[in-house]
Amino acid sequence: MSLSYQLLGSDGAARRGRITTAHGTIETPAFMPVGTAGTVKAMLPQSVAETGAQIVLGNTFHLMLRPGAERVAALGGLHKFMNWPGPILTDSGGFQVMSLKELRKLDPDGVTFRSPKDGSQHRLTPESSIEIQRLLDADITMSFDECTSWPVEEPEAAFSMRLSMKWAARGRKAFTERPGYGLFGIVQGSTFPALREESAKALIDIGFDGYAVGGLAVGEGQELMFSTLDYTVPMLPADRPRYLMGVGRPGDIVGAVKRGIDMFDCVMPTRSGRTAQAFTRRGELNMRNARHRDDPRPIDEHCACPACKHHSRAYLHHLIRADEILGAMLLTWHNLQYYQDVMRGLRGAIESRTLDDWIASFERDQALGDI
Ligand code: GUN
Ligand code: ZN
Repeated sequence: MSLSYQLLGSDGAARRGRITTAHGTIETPAFMPVGTAGTVKAMLPQSVAETGAQIVLGNTFHLMLRPGAERVAALGGLHKFMNWPGPILTDSGGFQVMSLKELRKLDPDGVTFRSPKDGSQHRLTPESSIEIQRLLDADITMSFDECTSWPVEEPEAAFSMRLSMKWAARGRKAFTERPGYGLFGIVQGSTFPALREESAKALIDIGFDGYAVGGLAVGEGQELMFSTLDYTVPMLPADRPRYLMGVGRPGDIVGAVKRGIDMFDCVMPTRSGRTAQAFTRRGELNMRNARHRDDPRPIDEHCACPACKHHSRAYLHHLIRADEILGAMLLTWHNLQYYQDVMRGLRGAIESRTLDDWIASFERDQALGDI
């Protein structure tokens, strides 16, 4: 038996579910903090769990280069190595390799690239990506794909998607089934309905434990992303989890949950936490801004994170201006807490079938702005 997905309820297209993996359960809709290099930057693993996160994301690309997948395996796997006992999803490396641009070369069999760290040559294929993710001990393994760039002409998007579908079939063969572990396929096809349909059908034909929507949040904008989800999500099996990769801002996540997505990951809360950006019920705040310099209030009086429970905006502003590590730590914690609070709110609203009201209230608060 691979990992399982239980549908607990729904409101319109939105779903309330539970994924059971070898290392624990994930209540969905879920947000997965990004722990690229075996750490959610600036956070202790137990602090990540305290925010309510039940699964973190790791990256094949970064971990194969440093410290190396064999080393992580010899040390007992990624859960033990980073002291995160809960579920882990690893991205396959396809997306991260693409961002290397001139340092990579794509062929029908895989991708050859140079390490941005020391220039050494490496290669990823559908099979080697799956093997690295097995060595890392990922509960959820992602298919090796090419994230089609945007904008793109339809013939190029079709070529790229069909390559990813060939790779998905090879990866499925290379994946060893184990109880509580699963392999997800990734739908590509850019913003072309016929290509998304061809891709979804190809993946369903192969058969996966979950289905991701890839190739979005690459510059197309929220409207095109939502319209792509409007026709793509209904093509996916209802009895499997659905994962929108690399998304997004809170408003993107809310709109995608409404359209039937169950899982998300994004560097936004963690990266923004290190660049003085705070996400709140009332929109985004730049804590570097001088207007916070004498403000004794917390970022959000309703937030349960340590930044809001124990510190003023003035103090956080000071830490950031002084380039103090604690500033990045506290803002990262706050942002992750806010994201998990949004997910909790969404799950509750789906359970009580009041999602439209919840979204109206969310949007009203966001539009009000900070006062
Ligand atoms: N992260 C964000 N988008 C993608 C994608 O299309 N493919 C993969 N593998 N990872 C992603
Ligand atoms: Zn807070």
